[in-house]
Amino acid sequence: MSDLSDKPVLVTCGLPYANGKAHVGHLRTYVPADIYVRALKKVGRKAIFVCGSDTHGTPIVVNAEQLGITPGELVEEYHAHFKNLFKRLEINFDAFGTTDDKENHDRTKQIVNRLIEKDYVYPKIIEIAYCPRCNRFLPDRYVEGTCPHCGEAARGDECDQGCGKHLEPGELSNPVCTLCGGPAEYRKQEHFFFKLSEFSDYLKTYLSKELGGTANARNYALGWVKQGLSDWCITRNLEWGVKFPGHEALVVYVWVDAPIGYIAFTEEWAAKTGQSWEKFWKGEGEIVHFIGGDIAYHHCIFWPAMLKGADYSSPKAIVASGMVKIDDKTFSKSRGYVVWAEEDYLDQGFHPDLLRYYLASYTSHTKELNFSWRVLQEKINTELVAGLGNFLYRSMLFAFKNYGKIPTGKIEPEIKEEIKKAIKGVKAAMEDYEFKKGVDMAMALASYGNSYFQAHEPWKLIKEDKEACGQVLYNCLQLGKALALLFEPVTPGSMEEAWKGLGLQGSVHEAEYKEALVPLKSETPMAKPKILFTKLENEKIEEMEAIFTQRIKEAVEKRDAKKGNKKQVKEVTKSEGKLSKERTKTQAEKNTDEKLEENLEEGLSQIDYEDFAKLDIRVGKILVAEKIKKSRKLLRLEVDIGEPEPRQIVAGMAPYYEPEEMLGKQIIVLANLKPVKLCGVKSNGMMLAAEDGALTAALMPDKDLGPGSKIR
Ligand code: MSP
Ligand code: ZN
Repeated sequence: MSDLSDKPVLVTCGLPYANGKAHVGHLRTYVPADIYVRALKKVGRKAIFVCGSDTHGTPIVVNAEQLGITPGELVEEYHAHFKNLFKRLEINFDAFGTTDDKENHDRTKQIVNRLIEKDYVYPKIIEIAYCPRCNRFLPDRYVEGTCPHCGEAARGDECDQGCGKHLEPGELSNPVCTLCGGPAEYRKQEHFFFKLSEFSDYLKTYLSKELGGTANARNYALGWVKQGLSDWCITRNLEWGVKFPGHEALVVYVWVDAPIGYIAFTEEWAAKTGQSWEKFWKGEGEIVHFIGGDIAYHHCIFWPAMLKGADYSSPKAIVASGMVKIDDKTFSKSRGYVVWAEEDYLDQGFHPDLLRYYLASYTSHTKELNFSWRVLQEKINTELVAGLGNFLYRSMLFAFKNYGKIPTGKIEPEIKEEIKKAIKGVKAAMEDYEFKKGVDMAMALASYGNSYFQAHEPWKLIKEDKEACGQVLYNCLQLGKALALLFEPVTPGSMEEAWKGLGLQGSVHEAEYKEALVPLKSETPMAKPKILFTKLENEKIEEMEAIFTQRIKEAVEKRDAKKGNKKQVKEVTKSEGKLSKERTKTQAEKNTDEKLEENLEEGLSQIDYEDFAKLDIRVGKILVAEKIKKSRKLLRLEVDIGEPEPRQIVAGMAPYYEPEEMLGKQIIVLANLKPVKLCGVKSNGMMLAAEDGALTAALMPDKDLGPGSKIR
């Protein structure tokens, strides 16, 4: 947000799926984006903020079917839920539409037609999962099975529990129908493909040289492009969605029309305000997308390619947050690992500003955030209450009690410097999407204020020299004004209170950072100040923790009950030789997430130590690392594992590490794995690595150990 650029900015957020309630995980997209937009306005930039509900796709159709309502009825309910929630959290979108709006249907058709005209779309006969029992094709979440890349349980369109890869129709092994639980088969059908592979070179340049935002999104995406892009199937057999032009029985894949929503919502805003949407999507305006790391692939690969292909502007930045977890576990409704934004937070009487502050300041934006009520309490009590709140309240209260108005004074040079320094730091941090850094810098100014107040002892000074004391207070109140401006993006409601308390005109939401150095008007009457932040008591936090624990317990019980039920049903099924109605019902009741989780849980059985002892795992040191010519993925390594000769090991690390950076590294090697040949090169052992979605890291000991050290 450098002051140099005065181009208008369009900020968007990953669209919430309108088939479930908002949880704290979602907020890591919306809260920082709202903070960013407010901060842009504070440096005088024109910023438009749009979002809307993602209403299409199979999860919505499946859920609606299970509830016995129409997809339209389902999305209406959750659209209203999200809209209301954002209002309560002071996340202020300029437009919040739905991807089922006419604007989005029209824009999607226009873009798809344009891609067809430009020969980027072609038909192809492919194998689509089909359930002979239900007598229908099974797009995306209607089918589950095994990921062909990593072997984990996966959904039709993504390996959500394993390697995180996007899956194309027909890729899943062992397909099972999620409607009846019976085996699915593959049947041939004509579908339409987008020539994604033709955009490889474009994307390489765009991702490495042009796209801004956070490095995580760009780097993941570059890795994916380097692995090679396949063409992308963009049609599905569904009734609900945006019809594929000329084919009434097909709709476009949800990941086609969902991001196009960003354009449609800009159009909705433009129509409402009489402004131009083209200035962002066809012109000079800048586009910044806020998303969670889970949807980086779609935003960094599919979306820029579609935009480029259809002659639209490219996003200037993609800002991807780390995922929110709880107790180090991925959010999961069925396991009870979830904190709901409404029922667990707002409806419990917590002020929205506290959660906004916590989400922005707990850890840097790209890191994972492990939600904890204790940490929330600690941060609120020591930082917002004892730091910022204390300084603002004590300064205002002292001035109000002793003067009843802003005392006479001027901003002293030292104070001016501190304010300038804080503004500079906060601006720079926000520009880099370093929200934590920005908040910490603003908080440093509050600490400075507290020390200044303490050091000048106004409670003594007032008795000796009321005028000198007035000057001290004047400085404090000016610092207060600066703090109200600096914190407005993060804690908007409380800072509006502070602004009013300082007797300032207008709203802090409209005021810019530069006003922080405009001197307060002495003699302005002050109102009795309000306490801005109140301490979170242990009792309340314990109550919240108890709700969380209880939810997990109930989830376990529910799942156990279902499992018992399922076993019984399985037996019935066997004896009847066909699927019973009962089984159909339990399957249909289930949410797809739950099922995958159960499969995973059942798949990992316990082992004895003897089983583990069969593994010869050792520390190795990499002596040679080089790319294998015929392969995009493989590296050939020579590794010292404490034997007379180094071992040759082939590892699929090329997308994640340059050979040079592997040299000399200590790694972990499974030494007694049967040798295999990969791409014609013998691999005698396996290097261990861990995968987290698209992120892959080699395991390395955190102390220098001798090659051959055993892992036990
Ligand atoms: N509908 C898609 C996005 C389409 S954008 C054209 C989607 N919806 S979502 O409801 O699952 O997520 C909405 C936003 O919240 C996304 O930005 C997503 O990344 C984010 N998050 C959802 N759960 C999250 C966590 N547990 N942690 C961090 N962010 C997460 O994805
Ligand atoms: Zn997988």
